[in-house]
Amino acid sequence: MTLTRTLRRTLAAALLAGAGLGAAAAAEVYREHHPRAAIDPAQGAAGDFSGTYGFWKDAAALERHRDWAGSTDPNAWKLNWKYPDLVDSGDVHAGHVAVDEGERFVRRAAAREPGFLACLGEGRNELKGVAAGYPKYDAKLKKLMTVEARVEHCAKAELWDDVRQGSPLNTKIAAYVKSQSAGLPIRVDLSAAPVMAAYRRGEQLFYTKVGQLNFACASCHTPGSIMGHKLRGEVPTTPFGDAAHFPTYRTPVGEVESLHQRFGRCLNQMRAQPLKPGDPAYVDLEVFYTVLSNGYPITVPSIR
Ligand code: HEC
Repeated sequence: MTLTRTLRRTLAAALLAGAGLGAAAAAEVYREHHPRAAIDPAQGAAGDFSGTYGFWKDAAALERHRDWAGSTDPNAWKLNWKYPDLVDSGDVHAGHVAVDEGERFVRRAAAREPGFLACLGEGRNELKGVAAGYPKYDAKLKKLMTVEARVEHCAKAELWDDVRQGSPLNTKIAAYVKSQSAGLPIRVDLSAAPVMAAYRRGEQLFYTKVGQLNFACASCHTPGSIMGHKLRGEVPTTPFGDAAHFPTYRTPVGEVESLHQRFGRCLNQMRAQPLKPGDPAYVDLEVFYTVLSNGYPITVPSIR
């Protein structure tokens, strides 16, 4: 009897000690990191570390290597998949249809409630050029806002409607808002302290290894990694310039996809748990990614 009781007490004590250890370990999770690449955020897209910027920086550069586009040429990835923006520019594709659907919603909602358009336009009844400054810090809301977050916020505040980030409707409206800045260079304001802090957090996430495969984003998207090499039929490319064409219509998925949804797809490949669109960690990553596209023109509608 006494022996069992003592044993039980010892076991309970051991378990408690174990739990304590577990809690202490959880407080500082050990994470490995991919070696950092030297990126100067002030350079934006031109700071590209992959040595490919010269191939995709503008239409003339893309035209010079048009024969690589869609071919099996091992250099094709150096066009950074920008050629659909060029090749398809005259044609109507599913990306245009998504933008049209987003526009229809905005027009109808604004006819019913003009405050909706003014909210999207941050006080102006005009969306031209607005998206080029996103993500940005909203001092009134005390929050970093992406275009998708603004859409969700304005739908809730002005229409009493739940247009949640990650929903097809939210992504289509965001695509429409971004299309109103097509051709304009991205200009994320790095002089805003909350934006710069988010950039640094996003940068940290980019290099942090996670998931069952212990991969970081950088394991596939920096030089000396898998970047430029075939991975199950796809070739990971430079992170510079990516943010410019999101939300994009994804032919393999048959749906428009926001940048956050694309992050989730890569996390799935890393066998890591994807987060919900709009998660603060995704917002930080989006700030990092969009700063790496600063100066590069927005190309929405787009198709990938
Ligand atoms: C296992 C390799 C791998 C890892 C790790 C990985 N990706 Fe990707 N990623 C890819 C491939 C392959 C593509 C498709 C080819 C391309 O566009 O680069 C891609 C595409 C993307 C795109 C879309 C590019 C475009 O122009 O359409 C974004 C954005 C992206 N990844 C972000 C991330 C982020 C953020 C992480 C970390 C959370 C990450 N990736 C981790 C392999 C990876």
